[in-house]
Amino acid sequence: MINKVQIADKAYWIGKVDDRKVPFHRLVLEKGTTYNSYFLDTDKPTIIDTVDIAFAGEWVKALAEMVDLKRLQYLVVNHVEPDHAGAVGSLMSKAKNAAIVTTEKGKEFLIGMFKLQNAKFIVIKDGDTLDIGGKTLKFLETPYLHTEETMVTYSIEDKILYPCDQFSTHIANYELFNDSAKEDITEDFKVYYSLIMHPHRPYVKDMLTKIKRLDIDMIAPSHGYILRDNANKYIELYDEMSTLNTKKNLKALLLLSSMTGNTSKVAQSLAQGLNEMNIENTVVNVKNAEMETIIASAKEADLILVGSSTKYGDMIGNLEDVLKELTKLDLSGKFAAAFGSYGWSGEAIEVISDYLNSTNATVLTTSYLIKSTGAEDIRLPLRVAFTPDEASKNLCIRTAKAISEVLLRA
Ligand code: FEO
Repeated sequence: MINKVQIADKAYWIGKVDDRKVPFHRLVLEKGTTYNSYFLDTDKPTIIDTVDIAFAGEWVKALAEMVDLKRLQYLVVNHVEPDHAGAVGSLMSKAKNAAIVTTEKGKEFLIGMFKLQNAKFIVIKDGDTLDIGGKTLKFLETPYLHTEETMVTYSIEDKILYPCDQFSTHIANYELFNDSAKEDITEDFKVYYSLIMHPHRPYVKDMLTKIKRLDIDMIAPSHGYILRDNANKYIELYDEMSTLNTKKNLKALLLLSSMTGNTSKVAQSLAQGLNEMNIENTVVNVKNAEMETIIASAKEADLILVGSSTKYGDMIGNLEDVLKELTKLDLSGKFAAAFGSYGWSGEAIEVISDYLNSTNATVLTTSYLIKSTGAEDIRLPLRVAFTPDEASKNLCIRTAKAISEVLLRA
């Protein structure tokens, strides 16, 4: 059943409680969840987010009993995943006078999902406001929390933040507000954060910087409890949980063999990224180093990055001898990855990866980085074509920073 619960003057929760064991990404939500949608019954009636696609028909029908759908002026879409935007298509087919308010990426995704080419869109930019006839909404772009298009909506007069997935909990609660919860929700709130938001930690910090400028009395997220009591506690928890422990004394070793100096430049940019994350690092061209020294450094390192240029489909110089020695060591608990500059093929990078995979270090891959840091634009092993230009150098620096995130969290 979908009903209407007042949360502020002319502001209502109109969500759906889903008390099944809900399949969600790669999880099963044992405690179920809710899909919180909000109705601002102002002179220009506005909906903020919808519900899961499985409940779209039921939800639109219930909404039509609350308001003449032709009166709806705005549908704010903070996030396009189907558990919140699932009813956008059904609603827009009936709410003929409504405009969808979302980010540029949100518009692109919604058109792709629901074939809404002919719908009216208001594309927001960070900080834009919208008068909805008795309330003013302010929109902040908060990308990658947890997908590219995400934004949050702040109702200025009500001092309510509508952040969609952010600040959510996965609990099929019927009490709605955190101060009515039967038990302390802090642990569930933290678990949600770790699973959904923490991989995108740097973006959490950006979001917090923006919302800390707002005067927030209540947080009305899209799953679980509305945080009416002590909203600031939950903002502080996000701040605390997204702060990395930079006091760890971590060490990285970068081993390389470079034909023309390009792989060496890649290593220098990686070192720059590690330095910016306060990871102590040593760059060693294996041509000039004693095997004993290399092995001693490898034993001490928390991260071993190994790079080579490619010649005749293989790595160059004496790097292979070094890798053979590495495979004899106990590298458990350490992380490793391959890198290199190449002209047209770059096989050396793959050969190095094979060697690293035969050690007992954790070899970092693209999917490992995505799952643990949310860095979707980084590829590992790291391959740079020809001489690194400014864009490639920046990519190397960002790669090193993403790898540092993994180390700092381990
Ligand atoms: Fe609750 Fe990202 O969906």
